[in-house]
Amino acid sequence: MARAAVILAAGMGTRMKSARPKVMHMVAGLPILGHVIAAARGAGCSVIVVVTAPDGDEVRAYAQAQGAETAIQDRQLGTGHAARCAHTVLGTFDGQVVVMYGDMPLVLPGTLEASFAAQETSGMAIVAFRSASTAYGRVIVAHEPFLDRIVEYRDANEAERRVDLCNAGIMAADAKSFFRWAAGLKDGNAQKEFYLTDIPALAKEEGVRCCVVLAQESDMMGVNSRAELAEAEREMQKRLRAAALAGGVGMTAPETVYLSHDTVLEADAQIGPYVVFGSAVHVRSGAEIKAFSHLEGAEVMRDAVVGPHARLRPGTVIGEGAHIGNFVEVKNSRIGNGTKANHLAYLGDAEVGDGANIGAGTITCNYDGFDKHRTTIGAGAFIGSDTALVAPVTVGDGAYVGAGSVITKPVPADALAVTRAEQKEVAGWAEKFRTRKKAGKAKK
Ligand code: UD1
Ligand code: CA
Repeated sequence: MARAAVILAAGMGTRMKSARPKVMHMVAGLPILGHVIAAARGAGCSVIVVVTAPDGDEVRAYAQAQGAETAIQDRQLGTGHAARCAHTVLGTFDGQVVVMYGDMPLVLPGTLEASFAAQETSGMAIVAFRSASTAYGRVIVAHEPFLDRIVEYRDANEAERRVDLCNAGIMAADAKSFFRWAAGLKDGNAQKEFYLTDIPALAKEEGVRCCVVLAQESDMMGVNSRAELAEAEREMQKRLRAAALAGGVGMTAPETVYLSHDTVLEADAQIGPYVVFGSAVHVRSGAEIKAFSHLEGAEVMRDAVVGPHARLRPGTVIGEGAHIGNFVEVKNSRIGNGTKANHLAYLGDAEVGDGANIGAGTITCNYDGFDKHRTTIGAGAFIGSDTALVAPVTVGDGAYVGAGSVITKPVPADALAVTRAEQKEVAGWAEKFRTRKKAGKAKK
């Protein structure tokens, strides 16, 4: 049967106190909405509709870039009203629909699949979890596993509030039936809103039973505030770390490592404490990332060693067995196999061959205030400490650059280039200097 998803994202998200729409806040480097769309796709939804507010341009652009359709909810009259707005896209859709909230970054495809399966057997399904939190609507069960009704916490009486079964905000139904029920919703509640949670009661009037599927609280949390966003990030990090460890990644202190949703760490990669991964990092087997390093948009090949305190920026490839040491920053550069840049260097827009040695304090001067220029360093080249390579510039294979040089012209292969001023010695100068200074002090 065809499957569609409706993701509600038209709310103001006022509790976030942010100019940015709630569902565009990041969890593990991906907007909350991105996680929800990915879950829907993972559960086999061929059409995904994101319901947005009229001024939700940013949300619509993002949803469309992810291959989702969009619908507009003109006025924020509640979750049930928002779901109804997806009718513009799904009016003729024949199949199952799952309606869910756009603020659930931890939702898993498996939970959506379970709701589809339960829908097939009993006509309708919602997902619930056990929690004492007052943030959620209460799920009142008639005869297990069937639902009697959902009561919003603020509309619930004392006995209903004591129920610890909570509404996750995932509802699976036959699409045609769903939109018929949604059209019949009323706003007679504390909030004067059309609640999605009143749909099961309308289904019941047609004799359709709603099955309650149980899920974990940690997977179902909705993000309404900054504190809940931080909590979701914590949960997501736990999940990503556990997956890395299960995949054979070595981590000394996993609780201190921050991963991105798309971090790829191969088995037998070794990650030290306090390493932070931005988006699009791939660390190959046998490579080691030492403590306090920050990586983003970089690929680290087998047996390379990065850090401690290294920074890899987008467009970087560190070759096999290469060493990038402390306080070395690499941006948009390819570093050859076995090449070493062990201390205090900046390599930007550079191509460094295999087996080169980059001395401490080497800087590629890649920017002239207007444009970026490239530096090419050949295989086996030796760049002495404190060299400034003024790009565009090329150092040939096997060439030597003397320490302290400012290189502005091409250095041929196997040549030596030195640009520093010649050294002079003045014999006895220091002794005379000290005598003069001491005599001056004695006078005062
Ligand atoms: C909702 C549920 C509650 C459930 C909880 C789970 C209702 C009435 N309540 O409460 O039972 O336990 O989620 O996290 O459904 N939205 C719109 N248009 C609107 C209003 C909301 O698109 O007019 C969207 C929001 O952008 C959000 C989602 O619907 O993504 C849920 O709205 P929210 O205000 O967060 O609902 P809760 O109070 O958390
Ligand atoms: Ca919510």
